[in-house]
Amino acid sequence: MTHFVLFFLFLNILSIGWSKSDADYPVYLRGMNWANVEEHLQEDLSLSDAIIPTNYIIDLSVNARGYGGADKSTFNGSVVIDMNFTRSTNSIELHSRGLTIQKVSIIGSRIDSAPLSVVNITHNKNRESIILLINRTIIANEEMILEIHYNGSSDLSEYGLHEIWNPDPIEPRFVLATNNFPTGARFWFPSFDEPAKRAQFQLRIDHSTEINGFSNM
Ligand SMILES: *[C@@H]1O[C@H](CO)[C@@H](O)[C@H](O)[C@H]1NC(C)=O
Ligand SMILES: *[C@@H]1O[C@H](CO)[C@@H](O)[C@H](O)[C@H]1NC(C)=O
Ligand SMILES: *[C@@H]1O[C@H](CO)[C@@H](O)[C@H](O)[C@H]1NC(C)=O
Ligand SMILES: *[C@@H]1O[C@H](CO)[C@@H](O)[C@H](O)[C@H]1NC(C)=O
Ligand SMILES: *[C@@H]1O[C@H](CO)[C@@H](O)[C@H](O)[C@H]1NC(C)=O
Repeated sequence: MTHFVLFFLFLNILSIGWSKSDADYPVYLRGMNWANVEEHLQEDLSLSDAIIPTNYIIDLSVNARGYGGADKSTFNGSVVIDMNFTRSTNSIELHSRGLTIQKVSIIGSRIDSAPLSVVNITHNKNRESIILLINRTIIANEEMILEIHYNGSSDLSEYGLHEIWNPDPIEPRFVLATNNFPTGARFWFPSFDEPAKRAQFQLRIDHSTEINGFSNM
């Protein structure tokens, strides 16, 4: 009986012409009808595993709407990222969404050959990333420290660094808060915004003395 049922299913799959079955996909993609998802949506959006970020120093100035004369919530700052390379590459792709990238520089490196610099920055909207082209190939085991200056804006979008209004008539409250899950970090600082790319973080916030800053980092 069991054999018959399996055989029947097998024929059924063949007869509707599936070229791939669930078993052809990695375990984490099974059970989601992935084979029938349009091809352009199956594109692998993950970043290169050649680059391991090890430390971030985020320095952020925030202007919160209604405080210190600000008529909208904006932020600007810099992120300094230490990176190790496990394979050779001549580009660095990291996430950034809705941010204006002002300046990118290499401020330090432990290098095994010639000096290097960022020669081109391209934005990939689809991948929510920026791609930094380096003027030579970085080889495995080199390390590099990158500094990116950027700015952005906050709204009520519930994502990234966003505004929250609590219009309580007795105690109205305005909060500017981060929501990083699952891919919100890239909305407020350029980063390797993937769970596998863990690193240490230091955060410094400049803000109006009228508001308080808190962090659970
Ligand atoms: C944000 O921009 C202001 C004005 O240009 C500048 O003074 C400040 O240092 C910047 N903040 C950071 C954290 O870079
Ligand atoms: C990065 O490279 C340095 C020097 O090779 C090494 O000490 C450190 O453990 C590496 N860190 C990671 C997270 O791979
Ligand atoms: C890359 O840029 C650095 C800094 O400008 C420069 O010193 C180096 O010679 C350049 N390397 C190549 C291969 O062009
Ligand atoms: C940067 O690279 C992109 C894509 O390769 C290219 O279209 C663009 O012209 C380059 N920009 C500069 C300033 O070299
Ligand atoms: C970054 O700052 C510039 C200059 O003030 C502004 O035009 C731009 O809209 C800002 N970017 C974002 C994403 O808010």
